[in-house]
Amino acid sequence: MNKVIGLIAGSLRTESFSKKIAQALLTLAPEGFVFKIISLDDLPIYNQDFDDHGHVPESYVKFREDVRALDGVIFITPEYNRSVPGVLKNAIDIGSRPYGKSVWGGKPAAIFSNSPGNLSAFGANHHLRQSLVFLNMPVMQQPEVYIAHVTEMFDENGKLKEGKSKDFLKNAVDAYTEWCNLLKK
Ligand code: FNR
Repeated sequence: MNKVIGLIAGSLRTESFSKKIAQALLTLAPEGFVFKIISLDDLPIYNQDFDDHGHVPESYVKFREDVRALDGVIFITPEYNRSVPGVLKNAIDIGSRPYGKSVWGGKPAAIFSNSPGNLSAFGANHHLRQSLVFLNMPVMQQPEVYIAHVTEMFDENGKLKEGKSKDFLKNAVDAYTEWCNLLKK
């Protein structure tokens, strides 16, 4: 049976480069894997009262069910102020609660960080790793996936250009999926 890997882009922006990378990854899944975009577009800011007093938004219920059903997750994160954008941290928090019912635990993860600048969202990449340690998600160590100058990766139609960038992403995806297979046959 195919393993299903969720692609979570940490941006709400319509023209988001992180979303474009997620779209491109859909076409790069190797045999035995299906990639599925998990949208963060409809998730209100987490409020513990929702869980404590039984007012859980429908979008939380769906998000938690969708993530629970996954075999692994690739996080595609931009960087906001040297950290993870709030929308991604919010999604992580939503999936981690109610206490003891986290949907993240045990799922192998990879982090693809990206930026229009030189530094490739290194800060966001490593802040995200810190949360994933607590959530008990094993994270692929190598290759590390830092994408600089993300604005240059796509053509005028928003499609991933052929060449070095595509090869780099494909190599990262293959390393991740091979590692997933080692963890769980
Ligand atoms: C940014 N940006 C940014 N870039 C970066 O490399 N390091 C940073 O710390 C920040 N900080 C930051 C804060 C805020 C509030 C915004 C709105 C933007 C720029 C950011 O990388 C750029 O807007 C990306 O295009 C955002 O990712 P998406 O939406 O294209 O996926």
